[in-house]
Amino acid sequence: MIVEAIITTMDATGVVNFAPMGVEWGDDRIVVKPFLETTTFRNLRDGGAAVVNLTDDVMLFARAAISSPQYAAFPAVRVRGVVLEAACSWRELEVRHIDATPPRSRIDTAVVHHGARREFIGFNRARNAVLETAIVATRTHILPPAEIRADIARLQIIVDKTAGARELEAMALLTDHIENKLAEIAAAANANAR
Ligand SMILES: Cc1cc2nc3c(=O)[nH]c(=O)nc-3n(C[C@H](O)[C@H](O)[C@H](O)COP(=O)(O)O)c2cc1C
Repeated sequence: MIVEAIITTMDATGVVNFAPMGVEWGDDRIVVKPFLETTTFRNLRDGGAAVVNLTDDVMLFARAAISSPQYAAFPAVRVRGVVLEAACSWRELEVRHIDATPPRSRIDTAVVHHGARREFIGFNRARNAVLETAIVATRTHILPPAEIRADIARLQIIVDKTAGARELEAMALLTDHIENKLAEIAAAANANAR
């Protein structure tokens, strides 16, 4: 099963990177699959550690999908890295094996510590819809614009029915970003056609 998490990694100078990623879940072993060009891949390869943070705050996924934010965090217990303040629970990972076959790596890790901070509230459709929209936002350069617009329209209905204020705000952030990206893509296509 793939579980969507915010992965924190640290570079050699101590700079922390926060990235949404889906990981292959396990109690003792977790597989992370970052594309080779990501900071997460470089930090895992060079530092050999990461923290998988589970949170119900989809704004953190939305912002990290479209920018490189810094979030409040505190030092991890067993690995060189940090835990997200907003995490409901977390797992600390040590790299065991890296398959760096392009375009996407497969990094096997061992869970060396885990902790919990607060309750994870149950399923909310708007939160799931925002997560799906965040994934679309990272793929505007790959997906056809008509498909993107159809997906967003469907997801927006779910958000409008079931969201709280935080989810509405996260959805608006993502849809604005996606519209700007689609406008850029259309302008570039028009310029090429001339
Ligand atoms: C819910 C979600 C899951 C994602 N899963 C992955 C993943 O498994 N691997 C990956 O390389 N990028 C994934 N992405 C895209 C990365 O978060 C995005 O490309 C990010 O900018 C790259 O991370 P970096 O900060 O490590 O460079 C996902 C995005 C979202 C919103």
